[in-house]
Amino acid sequence: MKILGIIISNENGPTTMNFDFVINDNSVKKGQFVQIKHENGYIIARIDEIYKTNRYFERADTVIEYEKSGNPINIAFPTERWEYLVANCTILGHFNQDSIERLTFPPSPGIKVEEADTNILSKFLGFDFSSGLTLGRLSFHDLEVKLNMTRLLQKHTAILAMSGAGKSHLVSVLIEELLDRRDELGKPAIIVIDPHGEYKKFQNDSFYSRYTKVFDEQNIAIGVSSLGVNQISEFISDFSSAQKRELEKILKNMKTENYDFDEIIAELESSDVKSSTKESLLGWLYSLKNMNIFSKYTRPSIDVLARQGQLSIIDLSEFTHLNEKQIIATYFSRRLFSERRKGRIPPFLLVIEEAHQFCPEGVKREGAISKNIIETIAREGRKFHASLMLVSQRPIHLSTTALSQCNTHIILRVVNPYDIDHIGKSSEGMTGDLLKTLPGLKTGESLIVGEAVNFPVMMKVRQRKSRVSAEEANFEKAVLEYNLKKNLNKKDLEAFK
Ligand SMILES: Nc1ncnc2c1ncn2[C@@H]1O[C@H](COP(=O)(O)OP(=O)(O)O)[C@@H](O)[C@H]1O
Ligand SMILES: [Mg+2]
Repeated sequence: MKILGIIISNENGPTTMNFDFVINDNSVKKGQFVQIKHENGYIIARIDEIYKTNRYFERADTVIEYEKSGNPINIAFPTERWEYLVANCTILGHFNQDSIERLTFPPSPGIKVEEADTNILSKFLGFDFSSGLTLGRLSFHDLEVKLNMTRLLQKHTAILAMSGAGKSHLVSVLIEELLDRRDELGKPAIIVIDPHGEYKKFQNDSFYSRYTKVFDEQNIAIGVSSLGVNQISEFISDFSSAQKRELEKILKNMKTENYDFDEIIAELESSDVKSSTKESLLGWLYSLKNMNIFSKYTRPSIDVLARQGQLSIIDLSEFTHLNEKQIIATYFSRRLFSERRKGRIPPFLLVIEEAHQFCPEGVKREGAISKNIIETIAREGRKFHASLMLVSQRPIHLSTTALSQCNTHIILRVVNPYDIDHIGKSSEGMTGDLLKTLPGLKTGESLIVGEAVNFPVMMKVRQRKSRVSAEEANFEKAVLEYNLKKNLNKKDLEAFK
């Protein structure tokens, strides 16, 4: 392997945790992995910082005195020859034939530091070479990041970054990888709660369209007869126990198998329920009925929504009110989880975009109808192979209960200091050094920490294979296009004169 430098002896070590080496190869980068031969195996370390030294400039008094004398040091002495690059490294472990151990004895000064071998690195970081999901490339190395599907999905994932950093792009790449999996490896069902309708572009792709189903305001409905009293009361902020009791009786009395709120209202109006209870109950039922998301039958049915190797997009972009979006997310998440517990639908990945809207921290229950079921899936889903992926640009506003159950975090650029602080507290394996890199990440550059990898990994997310969305409309372009259209219209009009 290429030699990058030699371990030196200084106040930092070498210890069992850290060492410095003097660099003899200018290709060395901060964040890169290196290796050192050590007891039948290799020590693997990460370069956390690079600094320059020059012994001519070590003493402040000498530097100033030479400057004052009119004969600066760099003219009096061959200072350039004495400038060295030194890399600070953190030792990650000792790798010996597939096993990783903590170091119990430091490497010696004078030992050569090599570029990390990509085969060793791939095993060391825990990549799944044979059937992993290829999400991108390891930064500073010629190595694909291939994450094992179980390690990534079983214990839930969070994708966190500011808006525009590449979260939805990364989710799309992951979806492609899941849909591309060889049949014999098995594919989960994928369901995306999509508040902006960004994912329906999969439907326009000549290849992925065959796996994609989009459900939008035209074909989403919640079958009222599939709701119990508890579920109906979950959609309403404060239902008294008397109201609940009466509603339960009414539901038992319904004459038809499939009914909607109109029929419940009719039944209630003709009943002998006490008038004050009746009035308030009617108020609630009318407000639900007016939402236009309820019907006699549920569409899509859960077995249509959750199919192996199918991408189902619940496009909420045409629903204007947040509580409508939340009710739909609640209903389908609850049904998915309950059918999965009974083993009636395949293991699934439920992606929740803008998760802070559906599962917010510190918001009253009525503003967060869907929070309860999302937290339940976060806590209990792993046993039933119901996997959550929470995508958010405001981690600080995301339920800490749900976030703490996401065992893998993939973080792209974040600049808000409160969000960075929150990520530091909630991401396992995140160190102060790594946190400092977050504001400087470019679009598509990400940091993976947690269950899916043995050590934090910097990744450049790959390009999409599927049709990429049209460039986000640029303001200047939009203004120009508007002018152009107006002028054309004018010409048309003039032609008629
Ligand atoms: N890894 C990447 N490679 C190339 N372009 C990317 C990458 N990630 C994101 N982009 C582009 O950057 C823009 C913003 O990405 P997007 O995923 O929508 O961000 P977010 O969901 O975080 O707001 C999009 O135009 C997208 O195509
Ligand atoms: Mg997005």
